Amino acid sequence: MLSIETCYKNHFLKLKGHIEELCGQFASKGFVFGAGKPVPYFQDDQMTPFRSAPYFRYICPALGAYHVVVWGAGQKPILLYFKPEDFWEDHTPFQKSYWSEHFIVEQYAEFAKLNERLTGFQGYHYLGPDEKEFEERGFLSCEEKMMSWWAWFRSFKSEYEALCVKKATEIAARGHRAAYDVFRSGGSELDIHLAYLEAARVVESELPYRSIIGLGEKASVLHYGEKRDHVQNERVLLIDCGASYQGYASDITRTYASRMAPSVFDSMISALNKEQLELIESTKVGMTFGDLTYESHLGVARVLINHGLLKGIDPDVAVSEGYTAKFYPHGVGHMLGLLVHDVGGMQKDRDGTPCDKDPRFPKMRTLRTIEKGQLFTVEPGIYFIPMLLEPLRGKKEFQAIHWPLLDSLWPCGGIRIEDNIYMSGEKAENLTRPCLP
Ligand code: GLY
Ligand code: MN
Ligand code: MN
Repeated sequence: MLSIETCYKNHFLKLKGHIEELCGQFASKGFVFGAGKPVPYFQDDQMTPFRSAPYFRYICPALGAYHVVVWGAGQKPILLYFKPEDFWEDHTPFQKSYWSEHFIVEQYAEFAKLNERLTGFQGYHYLGPDEKEFEERGFLSCEEKMMSWWAWFRSFKSEYEALCVKKATEIAARGHRAAYDVFRSGGSELDIHLAYLEAARVVESELPYRSIIGLGEKASVLHYGEKRDHVQNERVLLIDCGASYQGYASDITRTYASRMAPSVFDSMISALNKEQLELIESTKVGMTFGDLTYESHLGVARVLINHGLLKGIDPDVAVSEGYTAKFYPHGVGHMLGLLVHDVGGMQKDRDGTPCDKDPRFPKMRTLRTIEKGQLFTVEPGIYFIPMLLEPLRGKKEFQAIHWPLLDSLWPCGGIRIEDNIYMSGEKAENLTRPCLP
């Protein structure tokens, strides 16, 4: 495996190519990337947890607020690193790292000086938060087509980016293992959450998204965010937790049943797990996400039929008649990278032409054709969501549902199995399973 230095160097060369191409196409002198600044809660002097802007992180892994990268066409990028003198807060001084030799680094202790340095860059485009402030300093805002180009570039991950997701996966896997142990010993959602953080050795604000730790029927709430402490010894745990590494996210879900869950539910978890692995095995360059979604619905249909939740119906009919959509109301996955739901999933070319709609699945987060370099999640699920299923009771069009069995499964909530996939070649490389089988 290549070292992180070499991976970043190749990533940097790729970025350099993007800058040259964009500057040529859009007659730009260069690009300026802002990390952004902390934002307070409304009418408060307390700050929301700071996260630097994704385009800044794409270029430069330096942590902290107010930094700016100025990258002129054909030039070495300059990192304007902000390190104020401050007795209220700690500001990490610039430290050499695997990426820093690629930048000219200038440190600023005063914001006014940094601001001054940002004058005289006529014809440069700004990409980042606080766009108005940068416009006032004379930078140009990126037009829509430029943004589409950037999003397109970001949707093909370099080896460096895949390596960061792998590292984020290793961190998350430690948390997942500890969370499983605490669930097995009867812990509450809060216990599981704290065990996850402790084992991953991260603070909550470092998580790429709010962790989803649903016990029992709460496993049916797709983005459940509470951490109940009074509910313990439950039959099911659905845990959807990731981690970050150099600004890149992992996004992993596992579902476990305790001895209190009915054996049919435990068997459904194993069956969906098998379907998910086979789906990933079959994922190839050239498929569309519509195809992948359809295959995932067939897998969900097989699990529902083989466990008696749907009776007297074939899998393809269960999909086309809309049964599976009632048990599995989200897409098969999404682009993953600097954002958990990463950019570029809905455009079919770099100019931003929207992907063709897939009439079979109107609500998808990505409609792209799968290509080498994409990194995305594969996360089929089966949920018992009263809001979606109860209205079907007694309906002739949904008579294949076996209600007594479904009624016994409401307290189990649901199942999701989510891995992260890198299209390193023609076939999918599963980044999650080596860390979390
Ligand atoms: N963790 C959010 C998602 O899986 O999309
Ligand atoms: Mn996901
Ligand atoms: Mn997830």
